[in-house]
Amino acid sequence: MEVAQDESFTRVIATAEAPISEASDWTCRVLAGGLRSAQVYWYRFTDANGNGSRVGRTLTAPSDNDTRPVRFAFVSCQNANQGAQNAYRRMIFEDERTTEQDRLGFVLHLGDFIYEIVWYPQDRPQGMYGRRLRDIVRYEHGEKIRDFHIPTDVGDYRAIYRAYLHDPDLQDARARWPFVCMWDNHEFSWIGWQSLQQFGGVNRPAQTRKVAANQAFFEYQPARLYKASGPPLNQFDPPRVVDAPITHFDEHGLGLEPNNLVAIHSLRGYRTLRWGRNFELIITDQRSYRSEEPTYRTEAQAFMSDDFPGLMPQEVLDILDGGSAYNNGHPPPTISYGCKDIANFRIDQPPTTILGVEQKAWFLERLKQSKATWKIWGDTVAALDMRADPQNLPTGLTKPWPGAGYAGFDASTGAGDHSTAYTERGEIYDFVRDHGITGFATIAGDRHSFWAGLAAKGLPPKAFEPVGIAFVTGSISAPGVIEAFEHAFPRDHPLRSLFVGQGPGDTRLQPLMNLLLRHGVRSCLEYLHSGDIQKARALSNSDLSPHVSFVDMGGHGYAVVRVTSDALETEFVCIPRPIERSEGDDGGPVLYRTKHRVSLWRKGETPKLDTRIVEGDAKFSV
Ligand SMILES: [Fe+2]
Repeated sequence: MEVAQDESFTRVIATAEAPISEASDWTCRVLAGGLRSAQVYWYRFTDANGNGSRVGRTLTAPSDNDTRPVRFAFVSCQNANQGAQNAYRRMIFEDERTTEQDRLGFVLHLGDFIYEIVWYPQDRPQGMYGRRLRDIVRYEHGEKIRDFHIPTDVGDYRAIYRAYLHDPDLQDARARWPFVCMWDNHEFSWIGWQSLQQFGGVNRPAQTRKVAANQAFFEYQPARLYKASGPPLNQFDPPRVVDAPITHFDEHGLGLEPNNLVAIHSLRGYRTLRWGRNFELIITDQRSYRSEEPTYRTEAQAFMSDDFPGLMPQEVLDILDGGSAYNNGHPPPTISYGCKDIANFRIDQPPTTILGVEQKAWFLERLKQSKATWKIWGDTVAALDMRADPQNLPTGLTKPWPGAGYAGFDASTGAGDHSTAYTERGEIYDFVRDHGITGFATIAGDRHSFWAGLAAKGLPPKAFEPVGIAFVTGSISAPGVIEAFEHAFPRDHPLRSLFVGQGPGDTRLQPLMNLLLRHGVRSCLEYLHSGDIQKARALSNSDLSPHVSFVDMGGHGYAVVRVTSDALETEFVCIPRPIERSEGDDGGPVLYRTKHRVSLWRKGETPKLDTRIVEGDAKFSV
């Protein structure tokens, strides 16, 4: 292995032997130390027979007291089974054409780098929504569930990484920038938590698969992660575990079964990275230590209705999240939903935690200790509330809303993340406020949608007191909710047009759900009646989403963050639905580009986010 200061390797500054073996699936890792800060380097591998790898480029971070601006992209959710990675091609195209100081320093991947659930084309000839399925992998020991397949051992997990790394756009992106990767759910299992998998509403132990997923991640993602087996760095050395039932949980919802603990601790992903004076990235793991998501419990179905697809009353979500701690330890024995009283199945269970006790303590400490101007929380799952106001629907349109007020969303539609983990989010945001931490921002993926807004633990009618800013990036290629609803929301449903609908002048379906989340049902109904977006916005329910300045549930692409000593700006680059690969060197057109800027605020001040659409049309999103 060689590291050079130039692309043609005339100035090689380091060489190393890099052992490879079957034990690491013929992958290898080399730790190159002693490099200079804020530099570009090139690297390549050559085997004993003189066969060479392609040349990779990497960049080192500025030193801790360096005040230069830092620019990076964050991405999530690429699905090579169902779509194309045009977003990376666009990112490369723009980076090649910009000035040296505006180039990206790295790409942060917030998970769903792979989708472990794979549809083989013949099992689903109708494709997925309007998309064709690609034949990217066959699992040698896979398990078929309904019409899709999942990996069952390390060979299968390795196979899916190899399949994804065949993608030419992803390959070029990985060769151009250092990637900072964190797993989300699909690197292990769709509805995975700790070392459990859930299919058909049933949890099943999967300790061996969790270890296999960690091993494949370790082999295919270059990162300095703590592994329980200790050095050396070039081999994972998986601990032996068995798939034993996990039946006992501690007071924070952590499964005490020994194999579960060994599996989830076999690889630690949470970590911090520093780029100069201005920016520290604190990355957390939202899957390995979390308690069970209450809205995935079968008992939670009692609070869902086909009359209001995806919606759940916010007061119900609040009670389910809080568990035994709700209302200062006095949770109600039953929960009202319409005219029914339903048993509170969470009454004797701990409040939801996504971080888990140990990681949360680490996270809060790092936040407090950080000396960087901007403390950016790389949270794979979104923290911005996603809500609607069905209580304002005119009578007669559909059945009465069974909730007491606002609606949130169930986990399958997009929430079930830090936006409905009210207790934990409140604890974190209170900590930020109480310690006078400024420059606090969260960035996330998972939701397959673009969001920009303010980080607050409560919304009206509760107090609305932002302590930071928050962003969510659209998916690289995985389908979003708008696309799913276009195909799957019942055609004759009275509420369909509030999610995907057409005004009088429209010739195609519009993403009305964006308007619904940002401004409420009255704005949607006005738009559907008049087709006038100004009139629609004039009827905005200002209490619904004072925290949101931009939302697009249908957008794909990537986000770019630029931090300086006095401001942070996030840019969303939205591309058309990436159904097929764009063959051009620009990755295809840009649908819209938006910029969201905040000046550094002082202790006690409230951050103010300024949103601008600088290119294209995103009228339903603001
Ligand atoms: Fe995803």
